[in-house]
Amino acid sequence: MKIVTPYQTEESKKEQVAQMFDNIAYRYDFLNSLLSLGIHKGWRKKCVKLLIPHKPKTILDVATGTADFAMECAKLKPKQIIGVDISEGMMKFGREKIKKAQLEKLITLEYGDAETLTLASDYFDAIVVGFGVRNFENLEKGLVNLKRVLKPGGKLVVLEFSNPRNGFIKSLYYFYFNKVTPFIGRIFSKDVRAYTYLPESVKAFPDNEKFVEILDRLGFKDAAYQSLSFGIAAIYRASK
Ligand SMILES: C[S@@+](CC[C@H](N)C(=O)[O-])C[C@H]1O[C@@H](n2cnc3c(N)ncnc32)[C@H](O)[C@@H]1O
Repeated sequence: MKIVTPYQTEESKKEQVAQMFDNIAYRYDFLNSLLSLGIHKGWRKKCVKLLIPHKPKTILDVATGTADFAMECAKLKPKQIIGVDISEGMMKFGREKIKKAQLEKLITLEYGDAETLTLASDYFDAIVVGFGVRNFENLEKGLVNLKRVLKPGGKLVVLEFSNPRNGFIKSLYYFYFNKVTPFIGRIFSKDVRAYTYLPESVKAFPDNEKFVEILDRLGFKDAAYQSLSFGIAAIYRASK
């Protein structure tokens, strides 16, 4: 798999990714809503609905960023939600939102790298990852770690951008992602590379069937995916 990095420097992908999200954190929520026209919120809701029948009590939000997914998971009324991320800058905004929503007793955010998680094994009833796996330096190492901390029978739900298959949608999507997104992103975030890295990393990501194959190979059970919004994103589900 081709490794796409934000700044194409000597530093590791992980260092560059953390740096990039620290840089754009102050604009992340605003740009997410602007660039996706708010659609991303509905996608997270859809993911969380899939977990309702499983009544998870302990939930881990990996690559939590500004904590939108963790806060959506609060609707499942679990006992504990932990969000982990490698960007302290993103989590600073997440913590402010959690405090404002008076969810501090339920949700805690802590520094944590998906690839080297130090959390207890077989602990979480559910793990969610929103737009995170594409940014892992070593995708499989990250997924193996998520499996380790998931309880046997626990559920994994991953939300990620994908590359649409329909020719017409594909041309529109690439035009929007390659031209409009970097232009708007550059104006508002002041990070020239961040919103150019976005389409590059989506293109390089093993999406749809390929991601399901990886989950299967790593020993997850019942792995499946569902395309969202004409195939511009997908939800992946699996169990341990
Ligand atoms: C696009 S943001 C997604 C934030 C949030 N999950 C959401 O749904 O909006 C990607 C996040 O992944 C984090 N990230 C990237 N690699 C990571 C890793 N190995 N472990 C933990 N977090 C990581 C980044 O720091 C960033 O905050």
